[in-house]
Amino acid sequence: MQSKSADAKDQPATEHGRLGYSSLRDEVVAEGLEVDGNLPSWLAGTLLRNGPALFEDSERSVQHWFDGQAMLHRFTIREGRIGYANRFLRTKAHQAMNEGRLAYHEFATDPCRSIFRRLMTAFDPGITDNASVSVAKLGDRYYAMTEAPMAVQFDPETLQTLGYGPRVPGAFATAHPHHEPDTGALINVATRFGPRNAYRFFRQAPGTKPTVLWSKRVAKPGYVHSFAMSRRYIAHTEFPFVVNPIEIPLKGKPFIENFRWEPERGTRIFVWDRRTGESAGIFEGEAGFAFHHVGAWDDGDTLCFEYVEHGTPQVIDDLYLSKLRAGDGAAGSSRPQPRLKRVQLDLRRGALRSEYRSDQSLELPRIDDRRYLERYRFVYGIATVPGGAYDGTEALVKIDTSTGDAVQWSEPACSPGEPVFVADPGEDREDAGAILSVVLDNLQRRSFLVVLDAETMQERARAYAPHVIPHGIHGAFYGRA
Ligand code: CO
Repeated sequence: MQSKSADAKDQPATEHGRLGYSSLRDEVVAEGLEVDGNLPSWLAGTLLRNGPALFEDSERSVQHWFDGQAMLHRFTIREGRIGYANRFLRTKAHQAMNEGRLAYHEFATDPCRSIFRRLMTAFDPGITDNASVSVAKLGDRYYAMTEAPMAVQFDPETLQTLGYGPRVPGAFATAHPHHEPDTGALINVATRFGPRNAYRFFRQAPGTKPTVLWSKRVAKPGYVHSFAMSRRYIAHTEFPFVVNPIEIPLKGKPFIENFRWEPERGTRIFVWDRRTGESAGIFEGEAGFAFHHVGAWDDGDTLCFEYVEHGTPQVIDDLYLSKLRAGDGAAGSSRPQPRLKRVQLDLRRGALRSEYRSDQSLELPRIDDRRYLERYRFVYGIATVPGGAYDGTEALVKIDTSTGDAVQWSEPACSPGEPVFVADPGEDREDAGAILSVVLDNLQRRSFLVVLDAETMQERARAYAPHVIPHGIHGAFYGRA
């Protein structure tokens, strides 16, 4: 392994590693992509994807993958045909970059600003509106989201930018809101910075302003990417990657570089009851770090949930473009691979138990949304392939959480994006459906949508996009009624 990665890294790694982190400037509408294979006859709707696609202005590149300008892509599947379109979100941050000036505070890239200006804008900075992370639907409106406190509304057909969503009650919020099952309202958490720092969980119903449901004051907030919600409870996992907000304006660093790894704090989990709004306990576990919670369910008085454990926040450093473009990023890193961890909280006794459910590496986890808030068996995601990092090979993976076994789909030099599960409406079985993923073939230098059978992880069909699509982050599928 050691010697193989040492030779392979010099040439192909750099070349292959760059492609998915290179800017895509074209915006196209291409109806009728060529489809190889047979699409399931029931598959109809639109896969919306979000991700960074413009990484430099006229002078310099942003530093971090998450800081590229948001581009939306859609794959519309209808009567066995697939159409495609892509378009940048027309945000202020995008306009500024297009005009050759980086102007907004991004996740890990900051424009030059005077100390005085920083102090003035400390708690309401010119924070970015570059909503490049995920998509969500609230009522009949579609939003692109990031961790900045405003979502950007867009048209799911034309991908045109329509305006901003309501401002959330904090300096940053997650791009992974939950959906209240009966109403479709979004539940999310914002972190308030100020004299009183707090996590503020809030509910946002269509056409209304966000209302705060539960809040927790803390001295040093942690970086929050997602949280767990079951039918009854919300669990907020606070990893010990924390910020002292009072120092932000003085240090003048990009947002994420203000956070510090303090493993001695351990991981704290705050649980509250969604029905009563009362605290249901604070649990302490070993230090760790995750972006993504997977799912959660109630088992009597035990709250169970899973997340993808990275161990430390090293992954954030590994996603700087300089590392990724050198082929030395997330997949090439020698750090331990992220794995699925299950946490069980006995709320009556106040006891925490946690365990890894599989040895399989995993990120960008998704489940069958019919099992949302319930116990599920299968988790889908992307995985590294041993020895494959140098040529871009990664896999789509399905983990059986009851056994820890995993089934993979991969092709040489192909990097798949987040797999989105689409349920077969004619079948109830948990894995009856399709997996959709946008794959970058680093060798052929082209991107395609792959459709897998979710039961077997065998390919059903693929459709080539008209251009190379940079690596995306999150997306969602919206079926056609
Ligand atoms: Co995420």
